[in-house]
Amino acid sequence: MTDNSEKSEFDVADSRREYVRGGLRRRDLTENPLDLFEHWLKQACEAKIPDPTAMCVATVDEHGQPYQRIVLLKHYDNQGMVFYTNLGSRKAKQLEHNQHISLLFPWHMLDRQVIVLGKAERLSMVDVMKYFHSRPKDSQIAAWVSQQSSRISTRGVLESKFLELKQKFMQGEVPLPSFWGGFRVTIQSVEFWQGGENRLHDRFIYQRDGQSWKIDRLAP
Ligand SMILES: Cc1cc2nc3c(=O)[nH]c(=O)nc-3n(C[C@H](O)[C@H](O)[C@H](O)COP(=O)(O)O)c2cc1C
Repeated sequence: MTDNSEKSEFDVADSRREYVRGGLRRRDLTENPLDLFEHWLKQACEAKIPDPTAMCVATVDEHGQPYQRIVLLKHYDNQGMVFYTNLGSRKAKQLEHNQHISLLFPWHMLDRQVIVLGKAERLSMVDVMKYFHSRPKDSQIAAWVSQQSSRISTRGVLESKFLELKQKFMQGEVPLPSFWGGFRVTIQSVEFWQGGENRLHDRFIYQRDGQSWKIDRLAP
């Protein structure tokens, strides 16, 4: 870090590159945005992007202050996109007040991003239970350990609680904590961005229009 009078070694303003992977054309679009999303997600996996299912999840608090954090997408279909989290977390509390949510998949290694807007609804206990028990046992125990987003004094608090609960749940199933759950984001719009040469990027937005989707090209 430098103050204004010094030139930093790495000038962020000089960080730029050309996007030359080829564009996104109308003929490449699918009728349903989830089909194109799936195609891009597969390509993100093939390209070995770390955490291809990681999405930046934006919510707002009761004062309109936006917050973002990375969360893993765990399921998607025509009913929406699903993620799991602690129900006492900041994001879950914010969603209680305001269901509006934005998800962003930062696949910039492929010169791409996908932005989803929608509303988040709590998953049923049955759905949560099914997913919870499909997780590795240590992850299930970790869910019990962390009162996510609460303030803690040291890491040791977590580690000793983890060991204590590992002992406790050595035999049998780990029960689902009442404070752990998931959300389904019903999709209102999906925007696909593909970097193009000379900053002439391609953007297409799908917006729900009854049972079908209205598609528009956006200026980059
Ligand atoms: C790669 C990655 C994956 C993550 N996946 C999840 C997830 O699936 N669920 C979750 O609650 N937090 C996940 N987190 C942690 C969140 O980013 C965040 O720290 C946490 O959910 C608390 O957020 P909040 O205080 O805004 O509610 C992940 C973080 C990273 C970097």
